Amino acid sequence: MTASDTRVRLLPSHLRRAVIGAPMAGGPTTGELIAAVGEAGGLGMIGSGYLDGEATRAEIAAVRELTDAPFGVNVFLLDEADSAAALDAAGGAAALEEYAAALEPVARRLGIDLARDPQFTDFDQDGTIAALVEEAVPVVSFTFGIPDADTVRRLQEVGSAVVVTVASVEDARRSVEVGADWLSVQGAEAGGHRSTTTVGEEPNLTSTVDLVRAVRAALTETEFVAAGGISTPADVAAALEAGATGVQLGTVLLRTPEAGTTALHRAALGDERFTESRPTRCYTGRYARSLVNGFVAEHHDAAPAAYPHLHVLTGPMRKAAARAGDADVPPLWAGAGWRAAGAYADRPAAEIVAELWDGAR
Ligand SMILES: Cc1cc2nc3c(=O)[nH]c(=O)nc-3n(C[C@H](O)[C@H](O)[C@H](O)COP(=O)(O)O)c2cc1C
Repeated sequence: MTASDTRVRLLPSHLRRAVIGAPMAGGPTTGELIAAVGEAGGLGMIGSGYLDGEATRAEIAAVRELTDAPFGVNVFLLDEADSAAALDAAGGAAALEEYAAALEPVARRLGIDLARDPQFTDFDQDGTIAALVEEAVPVVSFTFGIPDADTVRRLQEVGSAVVVTVASVEDARRSVEVGADWLSVQGAEAGGHRSTTTVGEEPNLTSTVDLVRAVRAALTETEFVAAGGISTPADVAAALEAGATGVQLGTVLLRTPEAGTTALHRAALGDERFTESRPTRCYTGRYARSLVNGFVAEHHDAAPAAYPHLHVLTGPMRKAAARAGDADVPPLWAGAGWRAAGAYADRPAAEIVAELWDGAR
């Protein structure tokens, strides 16, 4: 096969239902969720964001045990120089110290120590990419960056379709230029991290439907799925009508029995006490949409653009709060459509995929 042979690479239009189960690294995505989405005719995605090459291979093996349906693997592209530049611009080590000092009362209340000098060394995705070239999975998607053309070609040569997660028209164009097979176009409503390609930038606030329209106008031939706030058949219909080939679902799958979402997070998503979600840097240093709990309300304004430093700094605190059942501290990732998604709480993933897709058509 040559890199230009696109027939065998999996596109959203090849799926029985063009519904991607979002990769949700850090627990929510499980092999069971991926298998359920795949067997409903969609495409489930492993979130390898916090895994190395070996752990990613183990996840792939586990999914292959569970299902013959195609699936994908999502990779975070972290760039050390970009992280360092963002931290510098945000005030460097002094800004980190200041933020850590502001978090001390929370740490004390939870009985843990914050890392005083949060360093992050695991910027190397080469091991994961090498593992993926060997595993030859149907789809590899990238988040937080655009892979170089050589990486795209190596993956395509083993038959993988290469997908880039983009949050702007410009990044959509750049991704097509390096040879991406299709895109995941992420609007402002999206739950979890926003896939900007640099740490320091402010993500645009363009809604999913408006961004889909703009990307479709710019790239008339490219297949892409729409992500962000898609929780009902009407949301799916609006995304398709605006020009998307398919959709990507995150938040609406968080409360399925197959998901690995913590009990605390599930309960918060159904708790009337939470009335707002917002993108915030306060947990990881990068914008990610969460329900607004006490921690977000108090620390959002002061958080520096220091990713993944804040991710390391707040890690022990997030874990301790989760153990203590304290929903006022940990991130409660949620897309802006989390309330509407509540109508599907506790329903099996396959039913949600079928209902949202078939109901939209
Ligand atoms: C809990 C959670 C974790 C996520 N983790 C990832 C991830 O590891 N990689 C990624 O590309 N996107 C991740 N996302 C973003 C999704 O891929 C998708 O863009 C988003 O969920 C769509 O918006 P919605 O949540 O409103 O459906 C995550 C989203 C959530 C809610």
